[in-house]
Amino acid sequence: FPVENIRNFSIIAHVDHGKSTLADRLLELTGAIDKTKNNKQVLDKLQVERERGITVKAQTASLFYNCEGKQYLLNLIDTPGHVDFSYEVSRSLSACQGVLLVVDANEGIQAQTVANFFLAFEAQLSVIPVINKIDLKNADPERVEKQIEKVFDIPSDECIKISAKLGTNVESVLQAVIERIPPPKVHRKNPLRALVFDSTFDQYRGVIANVALFDGVVSKGDKIVSAHTQKTYEVNEVGILNPNEQSTQKLYAGQVGYLIAGMKDVTEAQIGDTLHLHKHPVEPLPGFKSAKPMVFAGMYPIDQSEYNNLKSAIEKLTLNDSSVTVHRDSSLALGAGWRLGFLGLLHMEVFNQRLEQEYNASVILTTPTVPYKAVLSSAKLIKARRAVQKNMMFIDENRVMLKYLFPLNEIVIDFYDSLKSLSSGYASFDYEDAGYQTAELVKMDILLNGNIVEELVTVVHKDKAHLVGKTICERLKDSLPRQLFEIAIQAAIGSKIIARETVKAYRKNVLAKCYGGDITRKMKLLKRQAEGKKRLRKIGNIEVPKEAFIKVLKTQ
Ligand code: GTP
Repeated sequence: FPVENIRNFSIIAHVDHGKSTLADRLLELTGAIDKTKNNKQVLDKLQVERERGITVKAQTASLFYNCEGKQYLLNLIDTPGHVDFSYEVSRSLSACQGVLLVVDANEGIQAQTVANFFLAFEAQLSVIPVINKIDLKNADPERVEKQIEKVFDIPSDECIKISAKLGTNVESVLQAVIERIPPPKVHRKNPLRALVFDSTFDQYRGVIANVALFDGVVSKGDKIVSAHTQKTYEVNEVGILNPNEQSTQKLYAGQVGYLIAGMKDVTEAQIGDTLHLHKHPVEPLPGFKSAKPMVFAGMYPIDQSEYNNLKSAIEKLTLNDSSVTVHRDSSLALGAGWRLGFLGLLHMEVFNQRLEQEYNASVILTTPTVPYKAVLSSAKLIKARRAVQKNMMFIDENRVMLKYLFPLNEIVIDFYDSLKSLSSGYASFDYEDAGYQTAELVKMDILLNGNIVEELVTVVHKDKAHLVGKTICERLKDSLPRQLFEIAIQAAIGSKIIARETVKAYRKNVLAKCYGGDITRKMKLLKRQAEGKKRLRKIGNIEVPKEAFIKVLKTQ
């Protein structure tokens, strides 16, 4: 394929505006998939994507299209729309020269339309606005055209109006891709320079790297080197994704495809790495800005004997989702585990669900927290900040874009749901990191008869401490078995007690059910009680079963 007949593009949009449906139509139009089948979100391959109806992973498909006697190779990269997955979007864009910005003809510009537009704009890509769902009864494409002109400064006559569902006018999208997106600027005569922009792990074939070739050619049998690890590999297979893997003899600069080179260890194919020929070292391509996790949670195997299996499952999944950070951690109550960082709560849930579905792992996930920086000083004098309005812009007479500065902790857990229900589903939301701010935070201890329970120490905002403390005490009361003496459960800030619950004394006589003098039966019961005790953690003289910790620490 001559480079001038190649186009690398991506589809970006707010969630549910129809990216995956448009991708289905483009796949059909170019013959990549059969039109007669009932194609629905073909590129959403993961089980979690199908169940939730959202795209989590960016997917790649190479399409062949004939136009005015020339054959074109169009590499399409489908991307997720939800705020938590914007990292996937920016990564995909590094392999593209242009984007289709899909906007729903009824909903108009939404939060992620704006966020994704700016990712493309900053990467200096050509933007083709596509107004979708013109078949809807309430569609108002002219209004959306005006919004696009006002907010993005794109002339309204550049908008293409389509119905991805019905296939209306979709062909003109392909025309625009060819006319308005430039071919990649690459040099085939130069030595190989390939960017690893995604990778997955296959149990039988090892690491499958998705690559975009910026320079040169790669063929089966070539000796290549990872710029990151400096390890050398022999290429076993190269090919394109159409959208399923289709092996080819070679991949040329300007193409996007996959490469298998006997990388057996998940740490070997770093996303953002540059691959080059063994005999021709090159300057590595700029990698990716590493993702910045916003939400942290502890992850532990339900049974410690599952530790190694879970470790390898997490490693394989983080290869496919490099935005998750992993640090080893351990808790007296839950054993050895990890502290994981995620981009948001949905991201955390999806990661957990993928572990269960793709790796059959069951885990304990603790309540998510956000990072704080503690400054040791006698006065935290500055008043706690609530939301501060920074900016307001009317998109049209019905819609307004507001920018606020929020404490991350306030928006991470349930803000999005509350916003949706308050606005009857009309408002949409996106966020970016604005750095650390001073806040009135307190360290809250949980005490059992005066002894601190290390694993339940939390950092909370001063105003919320009472509520959080009360909830934890109540949950502990429900899950702590009665013991021979009374237990005081307290939440405290320093020496000040802010919540309290009591568990009444009780003597659990395991022998109560044993009538008569069957000594072997008595011994069995006592032994079982002793085994039960091994799973207990002693705090002072109080025995706390693991289940009690799980109940208190677990996400609801
Ligand atoms: P994410 O992958 O989660 O970001 O969503 P998406 O943007 O890929 O949206 P998707 O293609 O999954 O479409 C969302 C919903 O809109 C689905 O129920 C589609 O059937 C519907 N939809 C997509 N295009 C059209 C259209 O042109 N007209 C109508 N009426 N519905 C459409």
